[in-house]
Amino acid sequence: MFVVSFAGVLLAAVVSAHPSERVVTATQWAALNSSIGGRLHVGIPLARPCFTLADTAGNINATECAAVRQGWTNNLFLVEQFGAYMNTQWGSCQATAQTCLIDGLNVSDPTPSDPPNVCEQGSVPPYYIDVRDASDVRKAFAFSEINGVPLVVKNTGHDYKGRSSAPGSLALWTHNLQSLSYNESFVPVGCSASHAKPGVTMGAGSIFNDIVAFAEENNITVMTGAESTAGASGGWVMGGGHGALANTLGLGVDRVLQFKIVTPTGLYLTANECQNTDLFWALRGGGGGTFGVVLESTTLASPKLTLQVAFAAFSRTNTNATRGFYEVVVNNSVRWAEQGFGGYIEPFQALYVTPKLNSTESSATMQPLFDYVTSLAPTDPGVEILSLELPSYGTFYQTFIANAGAPVGENAVIASRLIPAANFGDADGRAALVDALIQTLAHVTFDMTLIATTPYNVPDDGSTSVTPAWRTAIWHVVAEGGWDGAMPVADEQAAYTGISGAANYLRAITPDAAYQNEADVHEPNHEVSFWGTNYPRLLQIKQKYDPDNLLECWHCVGYDPLSPRFSCYV
Ligand SMILES: Cc1cc2nc3c(=O)[nH]c(=O)nc-3n(C[C@H](O)[C@H](O)[C@H](O)COP(=O)(O)OP(=O)(O)OC[C@H]3O[C@@H](n4cnc5c(N)ncnc54)[C@H](O)[C@@H]3O)c2cc1C
Ligand SMILES: *[C@@H]1O[C@H](CO)[C@@H](O)[C@H](O)[C@H]1NC(C)=O
Ligand SMILES: *[C@@H]1O[C@H](CO)[C@@H](O)[C@H](O)[C@H]1NC(C)=O
Ligand SMILES: *[C@@H]1O[C@H](CO)[C@@H](O)[C@H](O)[C@H]1NC(C)=O
Ligand SMILES: *[C@@H]1O[C@H](CO)[C@@H](O)[C@H](O)[C@H]1NC(C)=O
Ligand SMILES: *[C@@H]1O[C@H](CO)[C@@H](O)[C@H](O)[C@H]1NC(C)=O
Ligand SMILES: *[C@@H]1O[C@H](CO)[C@@H](O)[C@H](O)[C@H]1NC(C)=O
Ligand SMILES: *[C@@H]1O[C@H](CO)[C@@H](O)[C@H](O)[C@H]1NC(C)=O
Ligand SMILES: *[C@@H]1O[C@H](CO)[C@@H](O)[C@H](O)[C@H]1NC(C)=O
Repeated sequence: MFVVSFAGVLLAAVVSAHPSERVVTATQWAALNSSIGGRLHVGIPLARPCFTLADTAGNINATECAAVRQGWTNNLFLVEQFGAYMNTQWGSCQATAQTCLIDGLNVSDPTPSDPPNVCEQGSVPPYYIDVRDASDVRKAFAFSEINGVPLVVKNTGHDYKGRSSAPGSLALWTHNLQSLSYNESFVPVGCSASHAKPGVTMGAGSIFNDIVAFAEENNITVMTGAESTAGASGGWVMGGGHGALANTLGLGVDRVLQFKIVTPTGLYLTANECQNTDLFWALRGGGGGTFGVVLESTTLASPKLTLQVAFAAFSRTNTNATRGFYEVVVNNSVRWAEQGFGGYIEPFQALYVTPKLNSTESSATMQPLFDYVTSLAPTDPGVEILSLELPSYGTFYQTFIANAGAPVGENAVIASRLIPAANFGDADGRAALVDALIQTLAHVTFDMTLIATTPYNVPDDGSTSVTPAWRTAIWHVVAEGGWDGAMPVADEQAAYTGISGAANYLRAITPDAAYQNEADVHEPNHEVSFWGTNYPRLLQIKQKYDPDNLLECWHCVGYDPLSPRFSCYV
C-alpha cells in the first residue's frame, strides 16, 4: 500500500497493474532530472515547428520546419530525432485522431499544419531520458515504480507495432549509446578462455549502416538487417533479427555472445552462456522492451565472405508477368534455400545472395529465373539480369541494400507469415501457394515482399526463444498497406483490418507462425505465432526479472491489453 496525490486529493491505493493516472509535480520531474545529470528532456512531436497551434511544448519555427519537411521521409534524419517515428502513426493517438503530421506525399503542402489544425502530443512520450549509463535507467525504473508513470524504451523508432511510444509516458532513448569495438577473441564475462570467439561489441544505439562499415574496415562480416538505420541491439535482435545472410549465418539471435542490461528490479546484469542464462535465452527472441534495457550487445563476427549475387527484374507495371514469376521462384526456392541463398522478392524483381556457391554454380542454379525474365524481354523494356561476384558483405550492402530500404515517413501497416518448406513440397502445395500469394497481393495497397532471410541452414539448438517455425521456413512474407498524413479513425481501422485480411490467404495454408517484429498489429493467437512452445517459459522469466510489470508493450510477453498505455491502439 502506498499513498499518492491525485488531483490534489490524497488517496490510499493498493499497487495494481493499472495505477490510476497520477499527477507528477514539476518538483518531482526536476528531482529526477538532477539525479540523472540533466538528461531529462521534453518530448516534442517532430512536426511541431510547422504548427502555429499546438497542445504540446515547443514553438513554430520556420527554419526547423523546413528541415522537418525535407527530412520527413529520410531515415538518416529521422533516426536522430527523438520525436520521430519511422511509421508515423505511432507518434499519433490513433484512437482519438490526435496527430501532429504533415503530408508525406507532398511535404511542402502547408495545409495539414495550418490553423485550425493543432499539433497534438499523441503517443510521443512527453518526457524522455537521453540514456548514457546504467544509473540513468535505474533511476527511471525507480521513478516509474513510485509515480506510476509508464515507461517506454525507444531506440531508432522503427517499430511496426508501436512498441517504442505510449501516451503520457517517460521514454528511455538509447540512441546516443554509440560505440563499436572488435575483439578477435572475445570471452563472455564469467566464461573460460575456451569460449573465446571473434566478437563485435555495439552500443545499443548503433545502426546497421555504421556496423556494416565498421565490419568492412575490420575485414569481418556481421549479420545485419536490411534497413540501414535500424538498431542492432534493440528490438531487431531481441525479436529475432533477419537479414540477407541469415540463411547461412543465422538470425541476429543466433549470433549474440553477450548482452549488458539493466533489469526493472534495478540490477545491471551481464547475460551470456555462462551467467544469467535464463535471461540470455529470453533476450534472444522474447522481444524488446520486455526484460530490461539493453545498453550493449556483442555479436559473433565471421570472416569476410565472397558472395554470389543474382538479380532479375522486369517492369513494375508488367503485372501480368507476376504469376509466372512467382511460379518460378516457388518451384525453385527449396533448392536455392539449401544452396544458402537469402534475398528479397518483389512482384517484379528478385535479389538473391549466397556465400556457399562459386560463380558458375550460382549462375547455373539461377538459370530458371533468368530464363523466365528474359522471356519477357520482347515486350518489356524493363527486363534486367545480373549475376556477379562481390568481395564482401559490405560491398553487397552498399550496392544493393543501403539505399533500397522500405519507405519511412508514412503510416505503414503490415501483416506477415512464415512459409514453411512443406508448402513448397509437391505440385499441389506449390500451386496453392502461388494462388494464395496472388490473392494476398490483390489486397495489398503498398507492397508485398517475399523475404528469403530465414535461418534455413542453421538448426534450432534450443538456445533461442523465437518460434522454432523460423528454422523450417523458406520465406517470411510481408504484406504492407498504409496511408499518409491524418485520416479518420474508421479509415485507420479499415487499413488494419484490410492488411490482416490480405494475410488470411496465407494463414489458411500455413501453420500459426509469424515474425513478431514485422507482424499484424492484431495478430491472432500471437503468443503461439511469435514464440510457439517457448511462451510459457518466457512468461516465467518475465515475472522473475520484472515482477511489477514496469515494462509493457503491445503483444509483448506478459503484457496486459487493458493497460491505459494501449489506449491509442485501434
Ligand atoms: C523500414 C524498415 C525496415 C526493416 N527491416 C528489417 C530487416 O531487414 N530485418 C528485420 O529483422 N527487421 C526489420 N525491420 C523491423 C525491425 O526489426 C523492427 O522495427 C524493430 O522493432 C526495430 O528495433 P529498434 O530497436 O531499431 O526500434 P525501436 O522502435 O526503437 O524499438 C523496437 C522495440 O525494441 C525495444 N527496444 C529498443 N531498444 C531497446 C533496448 N536498448 N533495450 C530494450 N528494449 C529495446 C523497444 O522498447 C520496442 O519494444 C524493419 C523495420 C522498418 C521500419
Ligand atoms: C533538465 O536539466 C537540464 C540541465 O539543467 C536542463 O537543460 C533541462 O531543460 C532539464 N529538463 C527538463 C525537462 O526540465
Ligand atoms: C528556430 O530554430 C533554429 C534552429 O534550431 C534556432 O537557431 C532559432 O533560434 C529558432 N528561432 C526562433 C525564433 O525560435
Ligand atoms: C504540393 O503542395 C504545394 C503547396 O500547396 C502545391 O503547390 C503543389 O502543387 C503540391 N504538389 C502536388 C504534387 O500535389
Ligand atoms: C579481448 O578480450 C580478451 C578476453 O576478454 C581480453 O583479454 C582482451 O584485452 C580484449 N582485447 C581488446 C583489444 O579489447
Ligand atoms: C583488411 O584487409 C586488407 C587487404 O587484405 C588489408 O590491407 C588491411 O590492413 C586489413 N585491415 C585490417 C583492419 O585487418
Ligand atoms: C494482361 O493480360 C490480360 C489477359 O490475358 C490482357 O487482356 C492484357 O492485355 C494484358 N496486359 C498487358 C499489359 O500485357
Ligand atoms: C565451381 O565449383 C565446381 C564444383 O561444384 C567446380 O567444378 C568449378 O570448377 C568451380 N568453378 C569455379 C569458377 O571455381
Ligand atoms: C512450376 O512447376 C509446376 C509443377 O509443379 C509446373 O506445372 C509449372 O509449369 C512450373 N512453372 C514454372 C514457371 O516453372
